[in-house]
Amino acid sequence: MKISPSVKVSSMYEKEGVLYVTWSDNHKGFIPLADLDLTSNEVVMLNGVEQSLKKLTKKRSSNGYSEKINASNPYFLWDSNSMESEEKSHVVFEFNHVMKDTKCLLQLIEAFEKYGVVQVRNCFGNFGACEILAKRIGMIRTTIYGDTFVITNNPEVTALESRVYTNANLPPQTDLPYYELSPEVIVFHSIEKAEFGGESFFVDGFHCASLLRQHAPKHFDVLSNVRVPFRKNFLEKGFDMISNHFVIECNPDTSAVERIHFDEGNRQSLNWDLPVENKKDFYDALRSFRDLIFDEKNRFEFMMDRGDITIFDNRRVLHGSKAFVGKRVIEGCYLDWQSVHGNYRSQMAKISK
Ligand SMILES: [Fe+2]
Repeated sequence: MKISPSVKVSSMYEKEGVLYVTWSDNHKGFIPLADLDLTSNEVVMLNGVEQSLKKLTKKRSSNGYSEKINASNPYFLWDSNSMESEEKSHVVFEFNHVMKDTKCLLQLIEAFEKYGVVQVRNCFGNFGACEILAKRIGMIRTTIYGDTFVITNNPEVTALESRVYTNANLPPQTDLPYYELSPEVIVFHSIEKAEFGGESFFVDGFHCASLLRQHAPKHFDVLSNVRVPFRKNFLEKGFDMISNHFVIECNPDTSAVERIHFDEGNRQSLNWDLPVENKKDFYDALRSFRDLIFDEKNRFEFMMDRGDITIFDNRRVLHGSKAFVGKRVIEGCYLDWQSVHGNYRSQMAKISK
């Protein structure tokens, strides 16, 4: 279909919150007023044609919901002390409330975006609850591990093969950096708690990156300008996943830190096409960042009891756990922010009707 650049609005009228438009080539269209970002609720102007609107119309969502759900709700960057103080109480929710009360769901999403980690209590500790809650928040993203996955210690797996399936400690990491776009949200549900140990801990990667930028700007520059390969050769499932990323990924327009890729278990330095001198600079910078990530002063640590769910932002928050005795079972799944944001806007529109 060809559209002439000379086509203009011929006429329009408003009826029950919808603007009906007839164009000069005689084709017709309509625009829900809620979709227009009106600065005035009384007049709309299209191609110089003015239409008075009879009644006030609520917009579908407030201004500022673009990349973040609420631009006036900045990230709260935390360390151990600041999270353990009063902030901790802002990140705890009840499963039943989140499932039944839309306002509570919206509060959870807002807190999640602000802090990068939220806890949901009383989720029953049965397989399937993780998926139910995840679908309340957004849409599950399938990965090479399936729609949902189980993390438990398996005596047949050695730490050399994969630490995830042993009772060894798991150092802080972001998940799946060997994807071109790593999953952005992780949901973990504690099905069985270890007899001893196995505490979970989380690290605000944006906070660590901010410290690095402040105290070691050259190291920050290296980590945000050198791409490093990550790889997962998952032959039993028929995948060999490889992707290159900046350890600290910044927005090219604003320079704001947008994503951390840190997973020493899956960083692939073999066949890395980078001059040796640059590799030395990279490893110096990585050590500096690693020191901040491993510093216990930057950890938010707690025990996930049976029936506890933790949701965390895989773009920002690194996760790990301590070694344990006994059996520990976690069911997990992934989502992306896009579906969480979409759900947020839709639920917000429903309650503001
Ligand atoms: Fe992980």
